[in-house]
Amino acid sequence: MNQHMPPEPIPFIDIAAQRRRLGKSIDEAVGRVLAHCQFINGPEVTALEQALAKFSGAKHVVSCASGTDALIMVLMAEGVGRGDAVLCPSFTFCATGEAAALLGATPVFVDVDEATFNMDPASLKRGIDTARKHGLKPRAVIPVDLFGQSADYDAICAIAEAEGLFVLDDAAQGFGASYKGRRIGTFGRATTTSFFPAKPLGCYGDGGAIFTDDDSLAERLRSIRVHGQGADKYDNIRLGMTARLDTMQAAILLEKLKIFEEEIVARNEAAERYARGLGNLVTVPRLAAGCTSIWAQYTIRLPAGVDRDGFAAALKTKDIPTAIYYPKSMHQQTAYKDYPVAEGGVPVSERLSADAISLPMHAYLDRPTQERVIAAVRSAL
Ligand SMILES: Cc1ncc(COP(=O)(O)O)c(C=O)c1O
Repeated sequence: MNQHMPPEPIPFIDIAAQRRRLGKSIDEAVGRVLAHCQFINGPEVTALEQALAKFSGAKHVVSCASGTDALIMVLMAEGVGRGDAVLCPSFTFCATGEAAALLGATPVFVDVDEATFNMDPASLKRGIDTARKHGLKPRAVIPVDLFGQSADYDAICAIAEAEGLFVLDDAAQGFGASYKGRRIGTFGRATTTSFFPAKPLGCYGDGGAIFTDDDSLAERLRSIRVHGQGADKYDNIRLGMTARLDTMQAAILLEKLKIFEEEIVARNEAAERYARGLGNLVTVPRLAAGCTSIWAQYTIRLPAGVDRDGFAAALKTKDIPTAIYYPKSMHQQTAYKDYPVAEGGVPVSERLSADAISLPMHAYLDRPTQERVIAAVRSAL
């Protein structure tokens, strides 16, 4: 680098770096699809579902058009609708609660844990009581593996079982992480993920998948994916959607999955470097015992009194991007403000919405780039 040139802008997520690494193999994979022309339900779709099942340990994988569709499909397949409560963390991306609301069910927002940002089991219990007080039937709980770290499945599954709810893991950000040595994809009745390009395992458009060990659920999901079709494809036996994953995206994901294990290692190394460089200055993310993270985001909390906008602006002057996930928790957003919140409120979600900020994170974040980010954070504070 010429010493008189300003340093290169740092991408928040460097999709182009992975593209450079995989360029030829992805071009060839897409070329094969262009040659066989089975753009819907081509052989790559089945191959991807098998590869994802092997990777996660789930018995069935049903690929679909997005992480949002994946959530809706599971709730549809379980007959969740009007009068039902679906317990969701408030501190999450809107799709978690939106899926329930779209089906006429009521999302009930519960709080998250201050250290892990994931669903707080004590608040979940209070949320179930709140749902009943509202005359709703608690049907499902959707823990989210927020920012990549697995939720507390032992605690959440035990509460769900005692209260008669099923667990749907929203792993849109967590696919590739594990809990007590088991990969995400096998907790609860079903797990969903997103292949949105910025996700740890992302495609080149929209995509998603559902993981389950339940044979009957998998069969219903395959039917819902194509308008609720039955054994005879023009006899639709239930309502469904058009929610298939394109063959082209499956072909791209197959190539990306081949290097995913290496990328998981690289992401963890980058997270450790951040923790070492920033741990004495800001609150860095903490992994709970038995949990790993795929580091979909690296989210820090600023010391009390630090102005978050000013901090972001200071980094921006050095071409270092930041992102705020999420400036409003779900219960604070216009579309969701009238849905119930667990008794005791969701103060942790509100605090996180006020002081959390995410730094660049991806598998190709090299040491010198990261040192630039760390130095900029230190000088901004
Ligand atoms: C927690 C969570 N759930 C669901 C989704 C929805 O995924 P998609 O964008 O593929 O519909 C996202 C996407 O950002 C997410 O972060």
